[in-house]
Amino acid sequence: MLTTKFIDIPPLSGVAGAVRVPGSKSISNRALLLAGFASGTTVIEGVLDSDDTRVMIDALVQLGCGIEAAPHRLTVRGVGGRPALKNATFFLGNAGTAMRPLTATLALFAASSDASFELRGTPRMHERPIGDLVDALRGLGCSVECLEKEGYPPLRVSAGKGPLSFAAPLRVRGDVSSQFLSALLLALPLRAEPVDAVIEVAGELISKPYVDITLKLLAAFGIAVEREGSQRFRLAAGQQLRSPGRFAVEGDASSASYFIAAGAIGAVDAPLRIEGIDSGSIQGDIAFADAVRAMGATIESGEGWLAVRRGRWPLAAIDLDCNPLPDAAMTLASLALFADGPSTLRNIASWRVKETDRLAAMASELRKVGASVEEGPDFLTITPPRAWRAASVATYDDHRMAMAMSLAAFNPLAGGNVPVRILDPRCVGKTWPDYFEALFSVARARREAVPVLAIDGPTASGKGTLAREVAAALGYRLLDSGAVYRATAVAALDAGIEAENADALAALAASLELRFDGDRCLLGGRDVTESLRLEEVGAMASRISAWPAVRAAVLDAQLGFRDVPGLVADGRDMGSVVFPDAELKVFLTAGPAERADRRYKQLISKGIPANIDSLRADLEARDARDRNRSASPLKPAEGALMLDNSALSIEASVDVVLKAWQERRPFDQSPDRPAVGPV
Ligand code: DC
Repeated sequence: MLTTKFIDIPPLSGVAGAVRVPGSKSISNRALLLAGFASGTTVIEGVLDSDDTRVMIDALVQLGCGIEAAPHRLTVRGVGGRPALKNATFFLGNAGTAMRPLTATLALFAASSDASFELRGTPRMHERPIGDLVDALRGLGCSVECLEKEGYPPLRVSAGKGPLSFAAPLRVRGDVSSQFLSALLLALPLRAEPVDAVIEVAGELISKPYVDITLKLLAAFGIAVEREGSQRFRLAAGQQLRSPGRFAVEGDASSASYFIAAGAIGAVDAPLRIEGIDSGSIQGDIAFADAVRAMGATIESGEGWLAVRRGRWPLAAIDLDCNPLPDAAMTLASLALFADGPSTLRNIASWRVKETDRLAAMASELRKVGASVEEGPDFLTITPPRAWRAASVATYDDHRMAMAMSLAAFNPLAGGNVPVRILDPRCVGKTWPDYFEALFSVARARREAVPVLAIDGPTASGKGTLAREVAAALGYRLLDSGAVYRATAVAALDAGIEAENADALAALAASLELRFDGDRCLLGGRDVTESLRLEEVGAMASRISAWPAVRAAVLDAQLGFRDVPGLVADGRDMGSVVFPDAELKVFLTAGPAERADRRYKQLISKGIPANIDSLRADLEARDARDRNRSASPLKPAEGALMLDNSALSIEASVDVVLKAWQERRPFDQSPDRPAVGPV
């Protein structure tokens, strides 16, 4: 998961390959709640692991459910309708799918016991209305207090005055959020009163497909609901929540929408395969696929997969009532950037009470990339950019803002050539912590479009540490080119090849099976991470790297590291030879005494005996060799930022480099910045 302050996505030119979408949030949280209150043990497969499901799981654990986690599956031991807990405060983050149903469930449970519970969330959760649900629960006789502002969390639910009354139908509004109706449906099986319960929906029910999911989940847990259209729902007396034993959560259709869209925009040569979901999904957002087909894409489906390919281009503009698919409609807003004219998304007033005011947020951020946007009370009209701008996109702590706006990075396919900066990318943790990793695994960019930050310098100057920290801060890939030479040295020493035998060394270097996996270096599948740091290996690396044929042999492997979203490369010739077009080149130095001291401490801390004088002599000899060799001698690249870190802490050096990097990036926060790129 990305935890950086921002992620810069380079201009993307296509997508290829396959992605697997994580489990559906809506289904996961409903399944968890029902399994938690049912009698019996349920194995939930494919359950989503994200912020919103974690708060639900924590709440169930507080209530006394036994939960065991294994990869992609949870085993939930239900409390059989009667938790033992009497008093507790639940923190539910910004998860509507936890706050609404738990409010209803705990209110009903508290009504027939002497329990008292508080439900709290993030500041944004405390701005999201829940008054209609509170009113419906109070109508039954439940005691629900709004602790700060009437109609909003935080809430306290506690024992009421006597039994609840189901004589009259419960009335709930359906036109603000379908989650109020879903919450009541999920909670009513827990009523203590042995009578039928009837719910009547006032007003037009929005987001109907989510209510269908609720009914399907209830059926799986043994509860039959009779319905008259979307206006009246009856739960007959005498039904108990029973575990189905096993329940499989399908992939999230809203999450899939970003890749369906990416396929429609960028899967030119072959379809993009999306796994974990298919056209038979019970989620309403699967209708997004139809909208994308209408815009021109080709979509096929088989059991557990979709395959999406670009068809008509540019996409056909649309005018659509998006009420049944409020979440995926945000993805349509991004697709509208690639259409042949203005698109209008209608009936999306519910966007205003989601994680943020999504109508205002989408309008503002789409304008930043260059679109013209008309924001109505319940619609958006989006005209594609005539000139794309390198935008720094705000995400409003809303996962869908980050994921939807990331699609703007495909602008080279619509006449642009600009990167997109997504601020606070970790907000995707709400539903898909690894969203950006998934995007980068299938996104393609022209190599020259992928930014490189080169850090060169002599041995023991601290460039490896600096490069690692800078790459982590930017969310970029890392190339430790010294390790490539060191690994070649390990292989040469193993094979008994002399440092003078340039031809044999070059052949060896060209055939090296080298893989970096996080901090580990694997040579032909063998972990050689520790051997790389040996002095003997460093000395051999210094000698063999002087051969032009060896350098040529490892060049392709080094260039291959230049991939989306960007690269920080450290070595001797990263800025001067391997990546001469690097956006920023840093030449890092420190005095020989300082460097010898650092190397000494490094070795001693690893329990390797060392002598500081010989270390210094050795690194001065290596400097001389690196500097005086004919092939790629160690020297600052033209235009390099010279940084002597003898007296700087690592953090201070990182700050200097990041500041220089920011100055070179094309982003500007001001909305009236002039357009860049082809018109
Ligand atoms: O940075 P390091 O000490 O891990 O590098 C090991 C050797 O590899 C070093 O002596 C010089 C050589 N090297 C090189 O010639 N070019 C690079 N880009 C990186 C390292």
